[in-house]
Amino acid sequence: MNPLRNGLVEDRTGDACAVVIFGASGDLTKRKLVPAFYNLGVSRSLPSGFAIVGVARREKTHEQFRAEMKEGVSTFSRRKPIDPAFWSDFERGITYVAGTFDAQKTYEDLRLHLDQLDRDRGTAKNRLFYLAVPPSEFGQIVAGLKSAGLVQPPNVHREGGAWTRVVVEKPFGHDLASAQVLNDTIASTFDESQVFRIDHYLGKETVQNLLVFRFANSLFEPIWHREHVDHVQITVAEDIGVEGRGKFYEQIGVTKDIVENHLMQLLCLTAMEPPISLAADAVRDEKVKVLRSLRPMERSLVQENVIRGQYDRGAVRGDEVPAYREEPDVARDSRVETFVAMRVFVDNWRWGGVPFYVRAGKRLARRVTEIAVQFKRVPHGLFRAPDGGITQNVLAMRIQPDEGIALRFTTKEPGQHTVLRDVAMDFRYGAAFGSNTPEAYERLLLDSMRGEATLFTRRDEVEEQWAYIDRVFDAWRAEANAPPPLYAAGSWGPEQADDLVARDGRRWRKP
Ligand code: BG6
Repeated sequence: MNPLRNGLVEDRTGDACAVVIFGASGDLTKRKLVPAFYNLGVSRSLPSGFAIVGVARREKTHEQFRAEMKEGVSTFSRRKPIDPAFWSDFERGITYVAGTFDAQKTYEDLRLHLDQLDRDRGTAKNRLFYLAVPPSEFGQIVAGLKSAGLVQPPNVHREGGAWTRVVVEKPFGHDLASAQVLNDTIASTFDESQVFRIDHYLGKETVQNLLVFRFANSLFEPIWHREHVDHVQITVAEDIGVEGRGKFYEQIGVTKDIVENHLMQLLCLTAMEPPISLAADAVRDEKVKVLRSLRPMERSLVQENVIRGQYDRGAVRGDEVPAYREEPDVARDSRVETFVAMRVFVDNWRWGGVPFYVRAGKRLARRVTEIAVQFKRVPHGLFRAPDGGITQNVLAMRIQPDEGIALRFTTKEPGQHTVLRDVAMDFRYGAAFGSNTPEAYERLLLDSMRGEATLFTRRDEVEEQWAYIDRVFDAWRAEANAPPPLYAAGSWGPEQADDLVARDGRRWRKP
């Protein structure tokens, strides 16, 4: 038994409830959602009154739907093989309702079905509606739920009655205006306290650990600001391409797919002030303040501070891979960016003048997400570093893979001469806690069942994120959306991205 695991008790079960998944035939349901519920069940984190109801257009029996979900869990669960005894119990709580989202009958059928589940499975009238559907369908679904009387106002729960919540998947719109429309649509039926917008990065263990690392240790916070930090680098690199999602990617591109949500959330958690508590709004207030402090990307700033790229043919881990424009459903002259690097400034007292260099891309050299805080050099170099300069301390927080935290510092090599060498003090999650960490969706689903919204994005956060990104797109449109420079698949992006950092006398880390 690893001693560090002592005391880690999985003691949080959600409230009794029925989870209704709209878009149950989609990939997300069988790849992520049902495997996450299965794993919550295995770790005894599910309430005893619990049921999953899939809703989709296709006619299907409960048995057919269960068989599909079993196959999904067998393939995608982090625990393999599936436990047959546990599954046979678990699958009894999985049922299916067929219907189109525009037909009122679907919601009437659903209401009768949920009433039955309250009686048969003790789901206590609590409802979690999960919208695993494209945003264009949100409107119909929330209207249908409302008119079938399936939505209880929040005060019912506050007064001891049942709750209703809605979980919304990304993409949450494609710009500020569309995000506002979606928010208004949802707000026509749900109170903000009932809305759980998913950014799955916030469910990752290592992302949650950022808050613990920063605010449960006294060592780093005193130096976490412009006096000591030279700059910050945030990298969200993937080695995969668009993986059959060409159609989606042609509409979205990496800036909207990754930067607007996941990367900006990482930036917020790195830059935010200590919240007054861990209550959802206390944490989200601080994140919103960071977003409001971002120096707006005026057109001239975009030209100077934002670099796009698109992957060309190349080799990833030894395999030849096609160019983005050769992927299925991608236009042969596509101008969509699959890489973006930005120099971002957080204009407040803590971070004034400290650049945040951020980058995200597909088909890069390897899959790695990390936040690296580079501290200032010593004011006077007594020693000559190996490269002739003065070395810098770096704190690298590795979000994935090989989750961990490494602190680089300079030491003297043993010997008669004073030769300096950079070394790393390395903490690895796998070694300390074992490698079977819960998936992001497990934490997020459990939190939504418990009504804990800290790890979900609030309306104003999403809108601030879009407002920032919209300006970048305005500038790109103004330059007639010139084609992005190409980079070889398997590289670290176009050379212009290196220049962006080199101009300031710095360079990207090779993570
Ligand atoms: C999703 C994006 O939100 O995040 C995908 O739509 C991307 O394009 C994925 O591949 C990355 O998530 P993770 O958890 O694999 O880093």
